[in-house]
Amino acid sequence: MKSHFVCVSVPPRWRQRKGCRARGGGRMECSWKTVLLLVCASLGVQYTAIRTLRDSLSGPCQGAYRCQTRHYRDSRWRALCDDSWVPVESPRKHILLFATTRSGSSFTGQLLNQHSGVFYVFEPLYHVQQAFTNSSTRLRRTLDRRALLGAYRDLLLNLYTCDLHFMENYIRPEPQDHVTSSFFRRSSSHALCSPPVCLEGGDGAASDQPDETWCPKKCGALNLTLASVSCLSRGHVAIKTVRVPEVRDLRTLSEDPRLDLKIIHLVRDPRAILASRMMAFSDQFRAWKIWNATGRQPRYVDLSQITSTCKDMAASVETGMQRPVWLRGRYLLVRYEDLALNPTEKATEIYKFVGLEMEDRVQMWIAKNTNTNLSSPSEWNYRYSTTRDSRATAESWRLRLGFDIVRAVQNLCNNTLALLGYKQVHSAAELRNLSHSLVEHRPQI
Ligand SMILES: *[C@@H]1O[C@H](CO)[C@@H](O)[C@H](O)[C@H]1NC(C)=O
Ligand SMILES: *[C@@H]1O[C@H](CO)[C@@H](O)[C@H](O)[C@H]1NC(C)=O
Ligand SMILES: *[C@@H]1O[C@H](CO)[C@@H](O)[C@H](O)[C@H]1NC(C)=O
Ligand SMILES: *[C@@H]1O[C@H](CO)[C@@H](O)[C@H](O)[C@H]1NC(C)=O
Ligand SMILES: *[C@@H]1O[C@H](CO)[C@@H](O)[C@H](O)[C@H]1NC(C)=O
Ligand SMILES: *[C@@H]1O[C@H](CO)[C@@H](O)[C@H](O)[C@H]1NC(C)=O
Repeated sequence: MKSHFVCVSVPPRWRQRKGCRARGGGRMECSWKTVLLLVCASLGVQYTAIRTLRDSLSGPCQGAYRCQTRHYRDSRWRALCDDSWVPVESPRKHILLFATTRSGSSFTGQLLNQHSGVFYVFEPLYHVQQAFTNSSTRLRRTLDRRALLGAYRDLLLNLYTCDLHFMENYIRPEPQDHVTSSFFRRSSSHALCSPPVCLEGGDGAASDQPDETWCPKKCGALNLTLASVSCLSRGHVAIKTVRVPEVRDLRTLSEDPRLDLKIIHLVRDPRAILASRMMAFSDQFRAWKIWNATGRQPRYVDLSQITSTCKDMAASVETGMQRPVWLRGRYLLVRYEDLALNPTEKATEIYKFVGLEMEDRVQMWIAKNTNTNLSSPSEWNYRYSTTRDSRATAESWRLRLGFDIVRAVQNLCNNTLALLGYKQVHSAAELRNLSHSLVEHRPQI
């Protein structure tokens, strides 16, 4: 028999670092006003209970997901405040799509979003970065990389345990009554646009919608409490991020006994990444575009971004290949080009790695989104579009970049290219000859 609980955990502003006091009978009771609202629905019966609990950002009281196993049904109250808590073997998967901007992560993320049991969040760290970027100059000056990465990890951990309220610390303008209209790329997530979060959104509604505004239009502002309920009822959480520089920065999450983290490291040919960034962010890449158009390198062109993209990508792959204990069984390297050329085969591999069944709807989504006609008018919302012919787009950079730029990137990223199995080109003719593949059969690792 299967039991199924849905729990809503406390909003972060109620959480304070206060301890629990032992009360009569040795049970732990919390001495402060924090209230945990748990709505647990079991076998169609809805329980509502209000309890006090000890909690802290890193304490063991976080994961309401414990409620999901039958074993914890009777002991769930105690477990939430119990110091002697031990990790439960949880069937809940915590999937991290670890990628970089314009590496095909929207497409890959959608593969996970299609699964009916997955609660998918598209780049939640955007809000953290925005909040930090907009803070005062003084704070910005003192803010170091570690602090930002720490904030990233806190948010990821809270999302994996389905505390969507934690986002309120970062979303601007600040949500009122746990409701916000500013959730970044909400439309990318089925769960955030379908029941119970949105009663209007029917099953599968998100996949065919061509723009980012349909969901807020149809569903209204996002109730983060309902989002937490949805998260818990889905069973698995998948998060896509492009803001964590290296896989090493995920070590504490990977070692966290509350999580069963699976990291899908998505990489792509840096030349393709650059071409895609030039198209998507043309303001930021104005100098590159001048370079591309004139064949002459402007003095002020910023080479540092693509250089660090390459360095971070290589460093993460090397870490993954060294198979440290904290990553063992938790790291899968995926080249976007392989996924684009053999979507079904690669998606099957990804699903096997994360330990989920590849549902028919995932298959159907792949069939629909990897064969569309590139020159047809479906070029809507180009920046973030995933509905493109994956095969054609994977190599289209070769027709979009001048040889001069390609050569420059090859020099900056030669080690990364070699490591990942991307061949260098030595002439413009070789660059444009698409029957000559630049993707080695497999990465050289
Ligand atoms: C950051 O500041 C800019 C300019 O003041 C503003 O347009 C933007 O909305 C702010 N972003 C956030 C997340 O507050
Ligand atoms: C958000 O959803 C919760 C749970 O259904 C509900 O209690 C609350 O009133 C909602 N908030 C608003 C502002 O509608
Ligand atoms: C793609 O679309 C264009 C314009 O809509 C059409 O002319 C062309 O025949 C289509 N190609 C394929 C392979 O369907
Ligand atoms: C680079 O220039 C070519 C023409 O030389 C153009 O077709 C292409 O779109 C440009 N690429 C980018 C990314 O702007
Ligand atoms: C990359 O370039 C550097 C400097 O030019 C060189 O030392 C290194 O051997 C090259 N790496 C590969 C894999 O070709
Ligand atoms: C393009 O590449 C293919 C495969 O490497 C090669 O056989 C062909 O001669 C090349 N075409 C040109 C025009 O260089």
